[in-house]
Amino acid sequence: MNAAGMNAAGPNSAGQDGAGPNSAGQDPAGPNPVAMEAEDLDGKTGLPRTGLEVHLASRPNGWPVPENFRLARVELPDLADGQVLVRNTAISVDPYMRGRMDDVKSYSAPFALDKALEGGAVGTVIASRSVERAVGDVVVHFHGWREYAVLEGGATKPVDTSVAPASAYLGALGMTGLTAYAGLMQVAAFTPGDTVFVSGAAGAVGSLVGQMAKNLGAGRVIGSAGSAAKVQRLLELGFDAAFNYHDGPVRDSLKSALGSSAGIDVYFDNVGGEHLEAAIAKMNPFGRIALCGAISQYNNSSPAPGPSNLALAIGKQLMLRGFLVGSYQHLAPEFASRMGRWLASGDVHTDETVVHSLPSAPQAFIDMLRGANTGKMIVALD
Ligand SMILES: NC(=O)c1ccc[n+]([C@@H]2O[C@H](COP(=O)([O-])OP(=O)(O)OC[C@H]3O[C@@H](n4cnc5c(N)ncnc54)[C@H](OP(=O)(O)O)[C@@H]3O)[C@@H](O)[C@H]2O)c1
Repeated sequence: MNAAGMNAAGPNSAGQDGAGPNSAGQDPAGPNPVAMEAEDLDGKTGLPRTGLEVHLASRPNGWPVPENFRLARVELPDLADGQVLVRNTAISVDPYMRGRMDDVKSYSAPFALDKALEGGAVGTVIASRSVERAVGDVVVHFHGWREYAVLEGGATKPVDTSVAPASAYLGALGMTGLTAYAGLMQVAAFTPGDTVFVSGAAGAVGSLVGQMAKNLGAGRVIGSAGSAAKVQRLLELGFDAAFNYHDGPVRDSLKSALGSSAGIDVYFDNVGGEHLEAAIAKMNPFGRIALCGAISQYNNSSPAPGPSNLALAIGKQLMLRGFLVGSYQHLAPEFASRMGRWLASGDVHTDETVVHSLPSAPQAFIDMLRGANTGKMIVALD
């Protein structure tokens, strides 16, 4: 693919029209010189000859800023045998992408500079040289952060839009949902009657963890989130108690939220830091902690100290286990059938925060890290 950047926008051009906090459902995209160009279609086939991509222009130092991203228009290559051309309709905005923006050794390779970012996306096949996929198929794949994806047909997975809208396969029915399910069921070995605490509870993974735990017979489900509106939403979703972690020390809020419960059996940690320390303090003997994420530390420029009370895990005989969703693909069929039923019956509700147009994607990512989303953060490519 020629990414030399026909009409490439310079720094500052990406994300300027992005959504600010509380922009759920609004259309924040204003005029953008690159995005507003007429589509460049092949006269014979009617297919696009070029497409917009979001590139990593520089590596963030601490919190990402719009200047770390660049919008570029690239030529689309001719399809090789076995390949498909997908028009992306929605892309997933995920916290783990922050780690891939640093040039450090990790469980997934760093993003390359001046290349398109990668991430989950759903879209429609508009040209195919693959026997596996036909024009019109709606698929999920990993070539997001661009308007058009050219990839092997086998690297896409068809989705059933009669079960849920395509974007749900980025959230509740996708990697996000499987993370919640695997972390709760297998990593934390959830058992009915457990008292469950989940941080980042109004986010994509956290809101599913809490609802699944309730559906599966948890004794008490407690969530923490970053605003009064999110706390209210958690109570509407069926959480027994919820608190805003900005209101005071997490340990005090957690103690009040526990009510008459002795302590926590399962802590699903999306946040790390003060939340993890508070949870360790309130765990019951033989409690289980699923270490899913540590978003409070993703933008630190120097390593944060670990929980000061980790030694409590010895006397309480706690289990703390990190996990990656990629290691739990074997649970996908069981998860899909359970989640499909919960969605159909209304026992699981899914919130999406939708930001419109590809140029808004960098700002959507920055805003998500600051808590602008309730439920799954999605960029719709209308
Ligand atoms: N292990 C895996 O395989 C795997 C897979 C997917 C996701 N994850 C992890 O799971 C976690 C949730 O991911 P997600 O996709 O569902 O994102 P999300 O929760 O939908 O969005 C991120 C949320 O993090 C919260 N947050 C930001 N800074 C915070 C801080 N300092 N303290 C507490 N909360 C903070 C914000 O909500 P507030 O307004 O509440 O602050 C924000 O909305 C992340 O840590 C992610 O890295 C892990």
